[in-house]
Amino acid sequence: MSEIVDLTAYGEEFTADPYPIYAKLREQGPVHRVRTVDNGDLWLVVGHEAVRAALADSRFSKSWRSLDPLAEPGAISANMLEADAPQHTRLRKLVAKEFTARRVESLRPRIQQITDELLDEMLPLGRADLVDALAFPLPMTVICELLGVPSLDREAFRHWSNVIVGQSGAEAENAAVEAMGAYLVELIEDKRCSAPADDLMSALIRTRHEDGDQLSAEELVGMAFLLLVAGHETTVNLISNGVLALLRHPGQLAELRADPSLLDGAIEEMLRYDGPVETSTWRFTTEPVDIGGTVIPSGEPVLVALASADRDPERFEEPDTFDIHRSAQGHLAFGHGIHYCLGAPLARIEGRTAIRTLLERCPDLALDADPATLTWRRGMLIRGVHRLPIRY
Ligand code: HEM
Repeated sequence: MSEIVDLTAYGEEFTADPYPIYAKLREQGPVHRVRTVDNGDLWLVVGHEAVRAALADSRFSKSWRSLDPLAEPGAISANMLEADAPQHTRLRKLVAKEFTARRVESLRPRIQQITDELLDEMLPLGRADLVDALAFPLPMTVICELLGVPSLDREAFRHWSNVIVGQSGAEAENAAVEAMGAYLVELIEDKRCSAPADDLMSALIRTRHEDGDQLSAEELVGMAFLLLVAGHETTVNLISNGVLALLRHPGQLAELRADPSLLDGAIEEMLRYDGPVETSTWRFTTEPVDIGGTVIPSGEPVLVALASADRDPERFEEPDTFDIHRSAQGHLAFGHGIHYCLGAPLARIEGRTAIRTLLERCPDLALDADPATLTWRRGMLIRGVHRLPIRY
């Protein structure tokens, strides 16, 4: 067994800026056994080539049952991000039937309207926390409206979702998972019994494949859970990490203002440079896997460091330079392989709308804090600041 790299020794430094540490690991090899603050000892895959290969490698299972055949995962685990083929294929096919490009495209005017309303409230203040004013409420409102979660219940969702991805400790996490699961069971039951609505959840309840296949009650809860958490916790950090990168690079910001056609490329660079998902979700080896001469034994937990892949000098020239003109294509911020992000088109529309409108309406936007004082979210899954003070 290879020597363990103790990531806990880096403390807050690793949370605030993990990139130099990923660079060091990458130089030493594509896979390391690491000790983490929140998840104990595990294997970490780094570097673009190894990360991309691992994400597409079926010897890495996504199912907890492959780690412990007797595990009894709760209802919310009946979701496609915790499933392997053929179950994954089945779940993804059923949701893809309803979560279509057309449905996503039809949300565009509403996304613009929500953005405008949030900025109407923010602008008179002169200064604000961008996370609270725009980056969080925009994707949260969109995903709740898309799924048909009543606005009254959204604060509770914010809390549960934050606890679940935020490394808040097993007890708090289990309680949040349970509360959210119970809420979703009731919501789905309500929708099943009421007149058909045109939200995505109602569509998922009704959907039926040509062969008659349908989502079971448990799978509906798992699907709703996954979409709501993924929709709550990711795009917020595309908007806030992206705006932070622009504000720390005033030359690039000025160029983007001067030529708005650079926006789509700039968004891809934001995803590459400081993406919202730092490492993938859990994977487990189903047999010994040799990566670059190091063998991960069977039955071991593995995390794949997307953030290290997207700063790999073998793939991106001067990877630590934020450059909205580069071709960031091939970044792995949305993952790769069968679990490639289902919400990527929606996230891109939200990110582009939010950042374009913010820049248009705040011509003198500036950071309202010393960047060194910003605090970053704990844990290796989600990368984002707690607050982003701005003035305009
Ligand atoms: C900028 C925002 C987003 C980023 C960076 C992102 C990133 C990712 C990544 C890296 C994965 C793969 C995880 C893995 O393989 O372990 C993933 C999967 C997924 N994402 Fe996203 N995501 C974003 C927004 C969204 C949104 C808005 C939704 C929902 C509407 C969503 C729904 C999903 C789903 C359902 C999966 C699982 C797909 C599967 O297992 O086949 N994501 N996302």
